[in-house]
Amino acid sequence: MKLAKRARVQAQWCERLGSPLYADLIARAADDIAAEGPLHALLMDPSAHPLKDLPMLRLMGSAHRLALTGRAPELASSYAAGDADAAWQALLALARDRPDDLRERLNAPVQTNEVMRCGPLAAGFLFVARETGLPLRLLEVGASAGLNMRFDLYRYETGRGAWGPPESPVRLTGFWKDGDPPYDGDVAVIERRGCDVEPVDPCTEEGRITLLTYVWPDQRDRVANLRGALALAPGVPAPVERAGGVEWVERELAALPAGAATVVFHSIVMPYLPHEEQQAFAAALTHAGERATADAPLAWLSMEHGGEECELRLTLWPGGEQRLLASCGFHGRNVVWVA
Ligand SMILES: C[S@@+](CC[C@H](N)C(=O)[O-])C[C@H]1O[C@@H](n2cnc3c(N)ncnc32)[C@H](O)[C@@H]1O
Repeated sequence: MKLAKRARVQAQWCERLGSPLYADLIARAADDIAAEGPLHALLMDPSAHPLKDLPMLRLMGSAHRLALTGRAPELASSYAAGDADAAWQALLALARDRPDDLRERLNAPVQTNEVMRCGPLAAGFLFVARETGLPLRLLEVGASAGLNMRFDLYRYETGRGAWGPPESPVRLTGFWKDGDPPYDGDVAVIERRGCDVEPVDPCTEEGRITLLTYVWPDQRDRVANLRGALALAPGVPAPVERAGGVEWVERELAALPAGAATVVFHSIVMPYLPHEEQQAFAAALTHAGERATADAPLAWLSMEHGGEECELRLTLWPGGEQRLLASCGFHGRNVVWVA
């Protein structure tokens, strides 16, 4: 059975990415699907698009949203207590007794903005600031809610030095594995703008709920950092335009202003672009890079799939040589700095 098999693979990924609760619930869901229980009936309905992207994360998100909005109090309290047995009973009861409530959001895209990715990204921004000696103009592609453009509002603690405002409600700790952290010196950010095909507004209740919906509830540090970043967002504008990455960078890179380093960056976005668009995207950057000067440099900072999970790569023009800065996990943990 295809869906049960996909559910088991998803459960393994949740385990690997540090959510024993979702690993457990999704593994039980796989058994229920295989046994043609209530979750089978819910998910095999064609309206649930069982074979489209990430069916189990859409299901868990749909249930989590009910918990976050007060419509599934048993599920909410079991999540708060970290009680997997109670959470499973609550999820099963929702599927059996209130399938229409679960279906409301079952087809919504899994939309995240992972603040923990700022661990490696911030190291990359500091590296660019140090190499160019200039303030940064940030242009983020696939920015979601734009929370990672506000990286300088967050605190980074590596065990070998710290950076960022000590009082920040966003504290990234325990993410640095090896290599000398480049967290020193100052960085001035003079512009923050992004694009996304499905932007989320972090300054609205709807946007905040959407982002919290897809964070796995037993990952307390992710939830706390997301809530902290959402609290800071209204104070520092970082608008995200509804646009596809290729057309947007082509337009935004038409001019490279002097006196600043223009930094185009993205994290876990390339898998969503068809191959031809990835090539057009790289070509747009390369063409713009040919116009870069020491006073108007262009940096392309990419945190995408590579190595065991992710790689942080930097291409800096003039010059245009690509460098591997670090390897890291999908959520920004286990950073091994190699630059
Ligand atoms: C996995 S999320 C990553 C979001 C954010 N970069 C982060 O690291 O938290 C991928 C994002 O890429 C966006 N996306 C997908 N295709 C896109 C495209 N062609 N142009 C711009 N954004 C795109 C999605 O809407 C989504 O917000």
